Amino acid sequence: MAKYRIAWLPGDGIGVDVLEAARVVLDKVQLDAEYLAGDIGWEYWCKEGDAFPPRTEELLKSVDAAMFGAITSKPAKTAAAELAPALQGKGLTYRSPIVRMRQLFDLYICLRPCKAYPGNPLNFKEGIDLVVYRENTEDLYAGVEFAPVPKELADTLSKLAKPFAPFAKVPLDQYAISCKINTWAGSERIVRAAFEFARQQKRKKVTIVHKANVVRATDGLFLEAAKAVAKEFPEVRMDDANIDAMTMWLLKNPFNYDVLVAPNLYGDIISDLCAQMVGGLGFGCSGNIGEKLAVFEPTHGSAPKYAGQYKVNPIATILAVKMMLDWLGESQKAVALESAVAEVIKEGKVRTYDMAGTSTTLHMADAVARKL
Ligand SMILES: NC(=O)c1ccc[n+]([C@@H]2O[C@H](COP(=O)([O-])OP(=O)(O)OC[C@H]3O[C@@H](n4cnc5c(N)ncnc54)[C@H](O)[C@@H]3O)[C@@H](O)[C@H]2O)c1
Repeated sequence: MAKYRIAWLPGDGIGVDVLEAARVVLDKVQLDAEYLAGDIGWEYWCKEGDAFPPRTEELLKSVDAAMFGAITSKPAKTAAAELAPALQGKGLTYRSPIVRMRQLFDLYICLRPCKAYPGNPLNFKEGIDLVVYRENTEDLYAGVEFAPVPKELADTLSKLAKPFAPFAKVPLDQYAISCKINTWAGSERIVRAAFEFARQQKRKKVTIVHKANVVRATDGLFLEAAKAVAKEFPEVRMDDANIDAMTMWLLKNPFNYDVLVAPNLYGDIISDLCAQMVGGLGFGCSGNIGEKLAVFEPTHGSAPKYAGQYKVNPIATILAVKMMLDWLGESQKAVALESAVAEVIKEGKVRTYDMAGTSTTLHMADAVARKL
């Protein structure tokens, strides 16, 4: 029996291409693993009315980790129209499989390292090495949303919140409400994860990203919880910044920052910004990490226009494999894989189209594998 059971979820579009590249390097590092294919993505929404079928949820309950490619999501009306005729009009609603996975398995950490590998022509500046800890289950992504707004909710808000007065006059089907929900426990645990990482890796600082000056209730709570956690880590410096200012400062001087921790939405924004500074979508990797399961993925989507062309850059996915190896405790293999990626980038002989080269997805994977 293999040491690890890994769920293998290519999903849609280029998810298939990049996961094939991931297998090339996993086979080369000889991870003692069994890879179990799972159904996920648009095809299953159209055929079965569920992009994340119950059998895939069951599969995830039985594995040590998962590699995920990408999925296609479409707006509600388009999604409903593409359902198989027998499923139409049954009130099925599309929900993002990755968001569901995060909530079902309590994958509360979204970890996004953003490192500028020397010689990458897409680096914004050489030497950037940022790590984003994004809260992954709460905040504006909690999924508590209303459109149209139920009358009971509008009546309650009219009673409880003065600033709601102008909205109370708007017809119920002419506005929508998405709830931003942040808990003390949820805020504490993501901040603690960021500080523990900083302590372990001897990182110089953790920056709390928020908007507590305006969004006082939820971001205020996040910031207070963060300050309480910071006291447990006196050797790690802490500061905080508003999300809007943060985007400017990060661009102006990325070297002033190190580990960043944020609620879900700001974390999403800031990690894309950080990923762009180190090469963009072809380099952005991500781990969705809980206590029992972790799902690793490139941050990009299914890029339908390139699907099946084996043209896109697999480095994001290969770096996600590196993260998975770290999480499994296979640190030697993780270090070797990262060095191989760094060497290929530095040499600059094999480059995909985004790096102004002509190499294919699998050429890049082979080049990394050869360095191992
Ligand atoms: N986690 C996910 O699965 C995820 C994330 C984002 C978007 N999506 C979905 O993916 C679909 C397409 O979305 P989109 O076009 O806005 O974003 P996308 O990330 O799929 O692609 C945008 C563009 O970025 C470039 N790109 C993406 N990945 C690349 C790579 N590895 N190498 C080189 N270039 C790359 C391509 O030019 C591509 O057209 C949508 O249905 C969207 O909902 C899924």
